[in-house]
Amino acid sequence: MNSLKVDISNILDFVSQEEVNGFQDQINVSFLSLLDKTGKGNDFLGWVDLPVEITKSVISDIQEKAEYIRKNADILIVVGIGGSYLGARAVIDALKNNFDYLLPDNERKNPLVLYAGQNLSEDYLVDLLGILDKRDYAINVISKSGTTTEPAVSFRILKNHLEKKYGKANAARRIVATTDKSRGALKQLANTEGYATFVVPDDVGGRFSVLTPVGLFPIAVAGFDISNLAEGALAMRTKLMANSTIGTNPAATYAAARNALYNKDRFVEILVNYLPNLYYFTEWWKQLYGESEGKEGKGIFPAGVINTTDLHSMGQYIQEGKRKLFETVLSVDKPNKNICIPVDESNLDSLNYISGKNIHFVNQMAEKGTTLAHIDGGVPNISISIPEVNEYFIGQLIYFYEFACALSGYVLGVNPFDQPGVEAYKKNMFALLGKPGFEKETEEIRKRI
Ligand code: PA5
Repeated sequence: MNSLKVDISNILDFVSQEEVNGFQDQINVSFLSLLDKTGKGNDFLGWVDLPVEITKSVISDIQEKAEYIRKNADILIVVGIGGSYLGARAVIDALKNNFDYLLPDNERKNPLVLYAGQNLSEDYLVDLLGILDKRDYAINVISKSGTTTEPAVSFRILKNHLEKKYGKANAARRIVATTDKSRGALKQLANTEGYATFVVPDDVGGRFSVLTPVGLFPIAVAGFDISNLAEGALAMRTKLMANSTIGTNPAATYAAARNALYNKDRFVEILVNYLPNLYYFTEWWKQLYGESEGKEGKGIFPAGVINTTDLHSMGQYIQEGKRKLFETVLSVDKPNKNICIPVDESNLDSLNYISGKNIHFVNQMAEKGTTLAHIDGGVPNISISIPEVNEYFIGQLIYFYEFACALSGYVLGVNPFDQPGVEAYKKNMFALLGKPGFEKETEEIRKRI
Protein backbone atom coordinates (compact mmCIF):
# COMPACT_ATOMS: atom_id res chain seq x y z
CA MET A 1 0.00 0.00 0.00
CA ASN A 2 1.27 3.49 -0.84
CA SER A 3 2.28 5.64 2.05
CA LEU A 4 2.94 9.17 3.20
CA LYS A 5 6.33 10.53 2.09
CA VAL A 6 8.54 13.27 3.49
CA ASP A 7 11.08 15.04 1.28
CA ILE A 8 13.50 17.55 2.77
CA SER A 9 15.72 18.03 -0.30
CA ASN A 10 14.40 21.57 -0.73
CA ILE A 11 15.72 22.76 2.62
CA LEU A 12 19.30 21.78 1.84
CA ASP A 13 20.23 25.17 0.39
CA PHE A 14 19.44 26.60 3.82
CA VAL A 15 20.68 23.91 6.23
CA SER A 16 23.07 21.09 5.44
CA GLN A 17 22.22 17.40 5.61
CA GLU A 18 24.89 17.17 8.36
CA GLU A 19 23.02 19.78 10.39
CA VAL A 20 19.80 17.79 10.04
CA ASN A 21 21.56 14.51 10.86
CA GLY A 22 23.15 16.25 13.84
CA PHE A 23 19.81 15.75 15.62
CA GLN A 24 20.04 11.96 15.39
CA ASP A 25 21.20 11.43 18.99
CA GLN A 26 18.49 13.71 20.37
CA ILE A 27 15.90 12.00 18.17
CA ASN A 28 17.03 8.58 19.42
CA VAL A 29 16.70 9.65 23.05
CA SER A 30 13.30 11.26 22.38
CA PHE A 31 12.11 8.20 20.47
CA LEU A 32 13.07 5.87 23.30
CA SER A 33 11.51 8.06 25.96
CA LEU A 34 8.24 8.02 23.98
CA LEU A 35 8.35 4.24 23.80
CA ASP A 36 9.51 3.71 27.40
CA LYS A 37 7.22 6.48 28.62
CA THR A 38 10.03 8.12 30.57
CA GLY A 39 10.09 11.65 29.07
CA LYS A 40 8.40 14.90 30.12
CA GLY A 41 4.62 14.66 30.31
CA ASN A 42 4.76 10.86 30.36
CA ASP A 43 1.32 10.70 31.99
CA PHE A 44 -0.09 11.77 28.63
CA LEU A 45 1.35 9.19 26.26
CA GLY A 46 -1.81 7.11 25.83
CA TRP A 47 -2.09 8.34 22.22
CA VAL A 48 1.08 6.41 21.24
CA ASP A 49 -0.76 3.08 21.46
CA LEU A 50 -4.25 4.18 20.42
CA PRO A 51 -4.07 2.68 16.90
CA VAL A 52 -3.38 -0.73 18.46
CA GLU A 53 -6.16 -0.33 21.01
CA ILE A 54 -8.93 0.54 18.55
CA THR A 55 -10.28 -2.99 18.40
CA LYS A 56 -13.26 -4.18 16.40
CA SER A 57 -15.42 -4.01 19.51
CA VAL A 58 -14.42 -0.38 20.19
CA ILE A 59 -15.33 0.47 16.59
CA SER A 60 -18.64 -1.37 16.69
CA ASP A 61 -19.67 0.28 19.97
CA ILE A 62 -19.02 3.70 18.42
CA GLN A 63 -20.77 2.73 15.19
CA GLU A 64 -23.81 1.43 17.03
CA LYS A 65 -24.34 4.73 18.87
CA ALA A 66 -23.54 6.64 15.69
CA GLU A 67 -26.20 4.65 13.83
CA TYR A 68 -28.87 5.65 16.35
CA ILE A 69 -28.01 9.33 15.83
CA ARG A 70 -27.83 8.87 12.04
CA LYS A 71 -31.36 7.41 12.05
CA ASN A 72 -32.85 10.09 14.25
CA ALA A 73 -31.12 13.34 13.34
CA ASP A 74 -30.39 15.44 10.24
CA ILE A 75 -27.78 17.41 12.12
CA LEU A 76 -25.24 16.55 14.81
CA ILE A 77 -23.95 19.47 16.84
CA VAL A 78 -20.46 18.82 18.15
CA VAL A 79 -20.01 21.01 21.22
CA GLY A 80 -16.33 21.38 22.14
CA ILE A 81 -13.26 23.56 21.81
CA GLY A 82 -9.58 23.03 20.97
CA GLY A 83 -8.64 19.37 20.94
CA SER A 84 -12.23 18.47 21.75
CA TYR A 85 -13.47 19.42 18.27
CA LEU A 86 -10.61 20.20 15.87
CA GLY A 87 -9.67 16.57 15.15
CA ALA A 88 -13.22 15.58 14.23
CA ARG A 89 -13.68 18.71 12.16
CA ALA A 90 -10.35 18.20 10.37
CA VAL A 91 -11.30 14.67 9.29
CA ILE A 92 -14.96 15.36 8.48
CA ASP A 93 -14.16 18.46 6.42
CA ALA A 94 -11.36 16.67 4.57
CA LEU A 95 -13.72 13.87 3.49
CA LYS A 96 -17.10 15.51 3.02
CA ASN A 97 -18.66 17.08 -0.05
CA ASN A 98 -17.51 20.71 -0.08
CA PHE A 99 -21.12 21.87 -0.37
CA ASP A 100 -22.90 19.23 1.70
CA TYR A 101 -25.01 21.84 3.49
CA LEU A 102 -26.58 22.79 0.13
CA LEU A 103 -27.41 19.25 -1.00
CA PRO A 104 -31.16 18.64 -1.32
CA ASP A 105 -32.45 16.46 1.55
CA ASN A 106 -33.11 13.47 -0.73
CA GLU A 107 -29.48 13.47 -1.90
CA ARG A 108 -27.91 13.80 1.54
CA LYS A 109 -26.92 10.39 2.89
CA ASN A 110 -25.34 11.57 6.14
CA PRO A 111 -26.25 13.96 8.92
CA LEU A 112 -24.59 17.35 8.69
CA VAL A 113 -22.11 18.00 11.46
CA LEU A 114 -22.14 21.55 12.82
CA TYR A 115 -20.13 22.98 15.69
CA ALA A 116 -20.76 24.99 18.83
CA GLY A 117 -18.82 25.75 21.99
CA GLN A 118 -15.71 26.74 20.01
CA ASN A 119 -16.51 30.46 20.38
CA LEU A 120 -18.58 32.82 22.51
CA SER A 121 -20.35 34.62 19.69
CA GLU A 122 -23.98 35.35 20.55
CA ASP A 123 -24.84 35.87 16.88
CA TYR A 124 -23.36 32.46 16.01
CA LEU A 125 -25.48 30.67 18.61
CA VAL A 126 -28.69 32.52 17.79
CA ASP A 127 -28.20 31.78 14.07
CA LEU A 128 -27.57 28.12 14.90
CA LEU A 129 -30.71 27.85 17.06
CA GLY A 130 -32.70 29.42 14.22
CA ILE A 131 -31.60 26.52 11.97
CA LEU A 132 -32.19 23.92 14.69
CA ASP A 133 -35.78 25.13 15.21
CA LYS A 134 -36.58 23.55 11.85
CA ARG A 135 -34.41 20.43 11.85
CA ASP A 136 -34.07 17.17 13.76
CA TYR A 137 -30.82 17.25 15.60
CA ALA A 138 -28.66 15.60 18.25
CA ILE A 139 -25.75 16.82 20.35
CA ASN A 140 -22.34 15.35 21.10
CA VAL A 141 -20.92 17.44 23.92
CA ILE A 142 -17.18 16.84 24.31
CA SER A 143 -15.01 18.07 27.16
CA LYS A 144 -12.27 16.06 28.81
CA SER A 145 -12.20 18.26 31.90
CA GLY A 146 -15.96 18.73 31.76
CA THR A 147 -15.52 22.27 33.01
CA THR A 148 -14.41 24.37 30.00
CA THR A 149 -16.48 27.56 29.88
CA GLU A 150 -17.12 27.93 26.14
CA PRO A 151 -18.63 24.47 25.54
CA ALA A 152 -20.40 24.52 28.93
CA VAL A 153 -22.18 27.80 28.09
CA SER A 154 -23.15 26.65 24.59
CA PHE A 155 -24.29 23.27 25.85
CA ARG A 156 -26.54 24.82 28.47
CA ILE A 157 -28.28 26.84 25.76
CA LEU A 158 -28.50 23.96 23.28
CA LYS A 159 -29.72 21.50 25.93
CA ASN A 160 -32.46 23.96 26.84
CA HIS A 161 -33.48 24.25 23.19
CA LEU A 162 -33.40 20.47 22.67
CA GLU A 163 -35.53 19.82 25.78
CA LYS A 164 -38.13 22.38 24.69
CA LYS A 165 -38.24 20.82 21.24
CA TYR A 166 -38.42 17.11 22.17
CA GLY A 167 -39.27 17.00 25.89
CA LYS A 168 -36.70 16.16 28.58
CA ALA A 169 -36.69 12.36 28.21
CA ASN A 170 -36.49 12.33 24.40
CA ALA A 171 -33.88 15.09 24.45
CA ALA A 172 -31.68 12.97 26.73
CA ARG A 173 -31.67 10.22 24.08
CA ARG A 174 -30.31 12.74 21.60
CA ILE A 175 -27.33 13.73 23.73
CA VAL A 176 -24.02 11.89 23.84
CA ALA A 177 -21.41 13.17 26.29
CA THR A 178 -17.72 12.46 25.72
CA THR A 179 -15.78 13.22 28.90
CA ASP A 180 -13.70 11.87 31.77
CA LYS A 181 -14.69 8.47 33.15
CA SER A 182 -15.59 9.87 36.58
CA ARG A 183 -14.60 13.54 37.12
CA GLY A 184 -15.99 16.90 36.05
CA ALA A 185 -19.31 18.72 35.83
CA LEU A 186 -20.18 17.17 32.46
CA LYS A 187 -19.79 13.63 33.79
CA GLN A 188 -22.05 14.48 36.74
CA LEU A 189 -24.63 16.02 34.43
CA ALA A 190 -24.50 12.99 32.11
CA ASN A 191 -25.04 10.64 35.07
CA THR A 192 -27.93 12.69 36.42
CA GLU A 193 -29.66 13.10 33.06
CA GLY A 194 -28.89 9.59 31.78
CA TYR A 195 -26.97 10.56 28.64
CA ALA A 196 -25.04 7.99 26.65
CA THR A 197 -21.35 8.57 27.30
CA PHE A 198 -17.92 7.92 25.85
CA VAL A 199 -14.74 8.14 27.89
CA VAL A 200 -11.73 10.31 27.10
CA PRO A 201 -8.81 8.27 28.44
CA ASP A 202 -6.91 9.90 31.33
CA ASP A 203 -3.60 9.59 29.54
CA VAL A 204 -4.65 11.24 26.26
CA GLY A 205 -4.62 15.04 26.05
CA GLY A 206 -7.18 16.94 23.97
CA ARG A 207 -5.02 17.68 20.94
CA PHE A 208 -3.90 14.03 20.75
CA SER A 209 -7.43 12.65 21.12
CA VAL A 210 -8.80 12.40 17.58
CA LEU A 211 -8.35 8.60 17.55
CA THR A 212 -10.49 8.24 20.71
CA PRO A 213 -14.31 8.64 20.71
CA VAL A 214 -13.64 12.42 20.84
CA GLY A 215 -12.96 12.23 17.11
CA LEU A 216 -14.19 8.79 16.11
CA PHE A 217 -17.84 9.22 17.17
CA PRO A 218 -18.60 12.43 15.23
CA ILE A 219 -16.63 11.07 12.26
CA ALA A 220 -18.76 7.90 12.31
CA VAL A 221 -21.99 9.94 12.57
CA ALA A 222 -20.83 11.94 9.54
CA GLY A 223 -20.74 8.63 7.63
CA PHE A 224 -17.00 8.03 7.33
CA ASP A 225 -15.17 4.76 7.82
CA ILE A 226 -13.45 4.89 11.18
CA SER A 227 -11.95 1.41 10.70
CA ASN A 228 -10.00 2.65 7.68
CA LEU A 229 -8.93 5.74 9.61
CA ALA A 230 -7.65 3.52 12.43
CA GLU A 231 -5.98 1.19 9.92
CA GLY A 232 -4.09 4.10 8.36
CA ALA A 233 -2.94 5.26 11.79
CA LEU A 234 -1.85 1.71 12.66
CA ALA A 235 0.13 1.35 9.42
CA MET A 236 1.91 4.63 10.20
CA ARG A 237 2.56 3.55 13.79
CA THR A 238 4.14 0.30 12.56
CA LYS A 239 6.36 2.25 10.17
CA LEU A 240 7.43 4.80 12.79
CA MET A 241 8.14 2.18 15.46
CA ALA A 242 10.57 0.28 13.21
CA ASN A 243 13.52 2.59 13.87
CA SER A 244 14.32 6.22 14.64
CA THR A 245 16.72 6.90 11.78
CA ILE A 246 16.49 10.32 10.14
CA GLY A 247 15.87 9.67 6.46
CA THR A 248 14.08 6.38 7.12
CA ASN A 249 11.57 7.27 9.80
CA PRO A 250 9.44 10.09 8.27
CA ALA A 251 8.52 11.58 11.67
CA ALA A 252 12.19 11.66 12.70
CA THR A 253 13.09 13.30 9.38
CA TYR A 254 10.40 15.98 9.74
CA ALA A 255 11.20 16.64 13.42
CA ALA A 256 14.94 16.93 12.72
CA ALA A 257 14.44 19.13 9.64
CA ARG A 258 12.18 21.63 11.40
CA ASN A 259 14.51 21.83 14.43
CA ALA A 260 17.51 22.38 12.11
CA LEU A 261 15.60 25.25 10.47
CA TYR A 262 14.55 26.63 13.86
CA ASN A 263 18.22 26.71 14.89
CA LYS A 264 18.79 28.96 11.87
CA ASP A 265 16.15 31.36 13.22
CA ARG A 266 13.38 30.07 10.95
CA PHE A 267 10.75 30.24 13.66
CA VAL A 268 7.58 30.39 11.56
CA GLU A 269 6.35 27.24 9.81
CA ILE A 270 3.60 27.63 7.25
CA LEU A 271 1.63 24.50 6.48
CA VAL A 272 0.66 24.91 2.84
CA ASN A 273 -1.92 22.94 1.00
CA TYR A 274 -3.84 23.29 -2.21
CA LEU A 275 -7.21 21.80 -1.20
CA PRO A 276 -9.77 23.95 0.61
CA ASN A 277 -11.26 20.88 2.30
CA LEU A 278 -8.00 20.57 4.24
CA TYR A 279 -8.51 23.97 5.90
CA TYR A 280 -9.49 22.41 9.22
CA PHE A 281 -6.73 19.85 8.95
CA THR A 282 -4.37 22.83 9.02
CA GLU A 283 -6.28 24.23 12.02
CA TRP A 284 -5.85 20.90 13.82
CA TRP A 285 -2.13 20.88 12.98
CA LYS A 286 -1.77 24.49 14.18
CA GLN A 287 -3.28 23.59 17.53
CA LEU A 288 -1.22 20.40 17.84
CA TYR A 289 2.09 22.14 17.20
CA GLY A 290 1.25 25.53 18.74
CA GLU A 291 0.07 24.16 22.09
CA SER A 292 2.72 21.46 22.20
CA GLU A 293 5.80 23.53 21.38
CA GLY A 294 5.04 27.17 22.14
CA LYS A 295 6.26 27.52 25.73
CA GLU A 296 9.20 28.60 27.87
CA GLY A 297 9.91 31.38 25.34
CA LYS A 298 10.54 28.77 22.63
CA GLY A 299 8.83 27.13 19.70
CA ILE A 300 8.09 27.37 15.99
CA PHE A 301 5.00 29.50 15.29
CA PRO A 302 2.58 27.36 13.23
CA ALA A 303 0.73 29.18 10.48
CA GLY A 304 -1.26 27.97 7.50
CA VAL A 305 -2.26 28.93 3.98
CA ILE A 306 -4.60 27.36 1.46
CA ASN A 307 -3.35 27.91 -2.05
CA THR A 308 -3.93 29.01 -4.63
CA THR A 309 -6.38 31.26 -2.70
CA ASP A 310 -3.68 32.63 -0.40
CA LEU A 311 -1.17 33.15 -3.20
CA HIS A 312 -3.29 36.22 -3.88
CA SER A 313 -2.87 37.46 -0.31
CA MET A 314 -0.15 35.89 1.86
CA GLY A 315 1.85 34.84 -1.22
CA GLN A 316 3.42 38.29 -1.46
CA TYR A 317 4.77 38.12 2.11
CA ILE A 318 6.00 34.58 1.71
CA GLN A 319 7.83 35.45 -1.52
CA GLU A 320 9.42 38.69 -0.35
CA GLY A 321 8.80 39.43 3.33
CA LYS A 322 11.10 38.76 6.30
CA ARG A 323 13.07 35.55 5.85
CA LYS A 324 12.20 33.94 9.18
CA LEU A 325 9.84 31.35 7.80
CA PHE A 326 9.81 27.99 6.13
CA GLU A 327 7.04 26.07 4.42
CA THR A 328 5.78 22.52 4.74
CA VAL A 329 3.69 21.65 1.72
CA LEU A 330 1.09 18.95 2.20
CA SER A 331 0.66 17.51 -1.31
CA VAL A 332 -2.07 15.20 -2.48
CA ASP A 333 -1.19 13.15 -5.57
CA LYS A 334 -4.66 12.67 -7.00
CA PRO A 335 -8.15 14.08 -6.55
CA ASN A 336 -11.22 12.03 -5.70
CA LYS A 337 -13.36 13.60 -8.42
CA ASN A 338 -12.49 14.69 -11.96
CA ILE A 339 -13.29 17.51 -14.30
CA CYS A 340 -11.39 18.64 -17.42
CA ILE A 341 -11.05 22.10 -18.92
CA PRO A 342 -13.18 22.01 -22.09
CA VAL A 343 -12.09 23.22 -25.54
CA ASP A 344 -13.70 26.50 -26.53
CA GLU A 345 -13.73 27.25 -30.24
CA SER A 346 -13.59 31.01 -29.86
CA ASN A 347 -10.81 30.76 -27.21
CA LEU A 348 -11.56 34.33 -26.12
CA ASP A 349 -10.14 33.54 -22.67
CA SER A 350 -6.95 32.09 -24.32
CA LEU A 351 -7.20 28.92 -22.26
CA ASN A 352 -7.16 26.38 -25.09
CA TYR A 353 -3.49 25.65 -24.37
CA ILE A 354 -4.65 23.76 -21.28
CA SER A 355 -7.90 22.38 -22.65
CA GLY A 356 -8.31 18.68 -21.96
CA LYS A 357 -6.26 18.97 -18.77
CA ASN A 358 -7.70 18.16 -15.37
CA ILE A 359 -8.06 20.99 -12.86
CA HIS A 360 -5.88 18.97 -10.50
CA PHE A 361 -3.07 19.03 -13.09
CA VAL A 362 -3.28 22.84 -13.19
CA ASN A 363 -3.31 22.89 -9.36
CA GLN A 364 -0.21 20.67 -9.30
CA MET A 365 1.61 22.98 -11.70
CA ALA A 366 0.66 25.91 -9.46
CA GLU A 367 2.07 23.96 -6.51
CA LYS A 368 5.34 23.07 -8.25
CA GLY A 369 5.77 26.58 -9.64
CA THR A 370 5.06 28.17 -6.26
CA THR A 371 7.45 25.86 -4.43
CA LEU A 372 10.28 26.76 -6.83
CA ALA A 373 9.47 30.48 -6.64
CA HIS A 374 9.45 30.40 -2.83
CA ILE A 375 12.75 28.47 -2.69
CA ASP A 376 14.22 31.08 -5.06
CA GLY A 377 12.80 33.73 -2.73
CA GLY A 378 14.67 32.24 0.24
CA VAL A 379 11.99 30.02 1.80
CA PRO A 380 13.09 26.46 2.72
CA ASN A 381 10.54 23.87 1.73
CA ILE A 382 9.62 20.51 3.30
CA SER A 383 7.26 18.32 1.28
CA ILE A 384 4.84 15.84 2.82
CA SER A 385 2.75 13.90 0.34
CA ILE A 386 -0.08 11.41 0.44
CA PRO A 387 -1.56 9.52 -2.54
CA GLU A 388 -5.13 10.75 -1.99
CA VAL A 389 -7.52 12.14 0.60
CA ASN A 390 -9.37 9.22 2.15
CA GLU A 391 -9.84 7.79 5.64
CA TYR A 392 -6.74 5.58 5.40
CA PHE A 393 -4.29 8.31 4.42
CA ILE A 394 -5.81 10.85 6.79
CA GLY A 395 -5.25 8.23 9.53
CA GLN A 396 -1.61 7.99 8.45
CA LEU A 397 -1.23 11.78 8.48
CA ILE A 398 -2.75 12.11 11.95
CA TYR A 399 -0.42 9.61 13.56
CA PHE A 400 2.58 10.92 11.63
CA TYR A 401 1.98 14.51 12.77
CA GLU A 402 1.32 13.47 16.38
CA PHE A 403 4.47 11.38 16.63
CA ALA A 404 6.61 14.00 14.88
CA CYS A 405 5.20 16.67 17.19
CA ALA A 406 6.16 14.69 20.28
CA LEU A 407 9.69 14.01 18.93
CA SER A 408 10.10 17.61 17.88
CA GLY A 409 8.92 18.97 21.24
CA TYR A 410 11.33 16.72 23.10
CA VAL A 411 14.19 17.80 20.84
CA LEU A 412 13.22 21.41 21.58
CA GLY A 413 13.43 20.57 25.28
CA VAL A 414 9.81 21.28 26.25
CA ASN A 415 6.99 19.15 27.61
CA PRO A 416 4.84 18.75 24.47
CA PHE A 417 1.86 17.48 26.47
CA ASP A 418 0.98 20.38 28.74
CA GLN A 419 -0.52 23.81 28.01
CA PRO A 420 0.08 25.99 31.09
CA GLY A 421 -0.22 29.17 29.01
CA VAL A 422 -3.91 28.53 28.29
CA GLU A 423 -4.78 29.28 31.92
CA ALA A 424 -3.83 33.01 31.89
CA TYR A 425 -6.81 34.20 29.85
CA LYS A 426 -9.18 31.99 31.82
CA LYS A 427 -8.11 33.56 35.12
CA ASN A 428 -8.76 37.06 33.76
CA MET A 429 -12.07 36.08 32.18
CA PHE A 430 -13.31 34.45 35.39
CA ALA A 431 -12.21 37.52 37.37
CA LEU A 432 -14.06 39.83 34.97
CA LEU A 433 -17.16 37.65 35.06
CA GLY A 434 -17.09 37.62 38.88
CA LYS A 435 -16.83 33.83 39.21
CA PRO A 436 -17.07 32.69 42.85
CA GLY A 437 -13.57 31.98 44.17
CA PHE A 438 -12.00 34.77 42.06
CA GLU A 439 -12.99 37.72 44.33
CA LYS A 440 -9.41 38.97 44.84
CA GLU A 441 -8.60 38.74 41.12
CA THR A 442 -11.89 40.50 40.31
CA GLU A 443 -10.99 43.42 42.54
CA GLU A 444 -7.51 43.67 41.00
CA ILE A 445 -8.51 43.33 37.37
CA ARG A 446 -11.33 45.89 37.65
CA LYS A 447 -8.70 48.51 38.54
CA ARG A 448 -7.00 47.83 35.20
CA ILE A 449 -9.98 48.43 32.94
O1 PA5 B 1 -5.41 20.12 23.62
C1 PA5 B 1 -5.91 20.46 24.67
O2 PA5 B 1 -5.68 19.89 25.74
C2 PA5 B 1 -6.90 21.61 24.71
O3 PA5 B 1 -6.99 22.24 23.48
C3 PA5 B 1 -8.28 21.10 25.11
O4 PA5 B 1 -8.69 20.14 24.19
C4 PA5 B 1 -9.30 22.25 25.18
O5 PA5 B 1 -8.84 23.25 26.05
C5 PA5 B 1 -10.65 21.74 25.64
O6 PA5 B 1 -10.55 21.13 26.89
P1 PA5 B 1 -11.70 20.21 27.45
O7 PA5 B 1 -11.81 19.02 26.58
O8 PA5 B 1 -11.26 19.85 28.85
O9 PA5 B 1 -12.97 21.01 27.45
